Amino acid sequence: MYERGEVIVSTFPKPEDVRRIADEKGYIIMAHNYQIEELQQIADFVGDSLQLARQAIKVKTDKILFLGVDFMADMIKALNMDKKVIVPVKGSTCPMANCLRREDVLRFKDMYNAPVVAYVNSSAEVKAVADIICTSANAVDVVSALDTDVVLFCPDKNLASYVAEVTGKKVIPIPGDSGYCYVHNYVTDEEILELLNKYRQAEVMAHPEVPSSIRKYANFVGSTSQMEKYPSTSNAKEFIVVTEKGMIAKLKKLYPDRTFIPVHSMNCYNMKKNNLKNTLSALIEEKYEVELPEELSGDIKRVVERMLEITEKPVQH
Ligand code: 13P
Ligand code: SF4
Repeated sequence: MYERGEVIVSTFPKPEDVRRIADEKGYIIMAHNYQIEELQQIADFVGDSLQLARQAIKVKTDKILFLGVDFMADMIKALNMDKKVIVPVKGSTCPMANCLRREDVLRFKDMYNAPVVAYVNSSAEVKAVADIICTSANAVDVVSALDTDVVLFCPDKNLASYVAEVTGKKVIPIPGDSGYCYVHNYVTDEEILELLNKYRQAEVMAHPEVPSSIRKYANFVGSTSQMEKYPSTSNAKEFIVVTEKGMIAKLKKLYPDRTFIPVHSMNCYNMKKNNLKNTLSALIEEKYEVELPEELSGDIKRVVERMLEITEKPVQH
């Protein structure tokens, strides 16, 4: 048995201790692909935003510990309003998701009279006024499925440009130039060229949050769940992985005989706020509980469910 505080203060917790306490307390652990390796190890489920949404509607237990950032935790809570959802750290957030307000979206919508597609990396209030949401895994399918040639897309300008390139539609980014993920947007040509020079046989996999100037090096562009599948379709032994570094642990576990090379600058500070120690504290103290007003949760649930409907029947493109 453990005393409150004893395990936390006196030791660096081991993954198996944290897992044991999750089981004793009746929590399932869901984690995003960018979490550190030790947290991926103790999770019941590790995935990208789309997989997390799909998984969240199937949860059977009434307690969930989520490891990721706040907009993902809100989505999981919205799909599980009758359950207790906790996170280890308050304020583990996504700066890109916070760069746009509800009023900005409504202003652009008035200006262009076009449907708004909100990337899942957006605040609850922005999702609530969007016509539909998407993740990086299904952005192309969602925009293709809309019966219009012009869409407003927020907040990631790089994902918007990728979707425009693949679908051939006019995809207007909102807010525009200031909408990007700092982890993906600032990768440089020099970093990629240096790695390509060192690993001459390597293929490049890139997340669509990188700018088009970096996408041009990629043999494959896709979300983190799509990156998980790509190596099984390729003969390459080495892959340069142009997304947040946490993804390397997931890929190594799936393909132990291949080499995955990180871009060292790609570190999401907020994703990395979670660790074994604060996860253990969260389980012992059963906090911090995710709270979401009923009206917002209803709106988020509606847009997530609409997105899942479309994704289950992907359109041809
Ligand atoms: P995925 O949807 O690919 O998991 O990406 C989420 C994210 O935060 C990318 O930076
Ligand atoms: Fe947000 Fe970028 Fe971190 Fe993803 S990697 S959570 S988009 S800051």
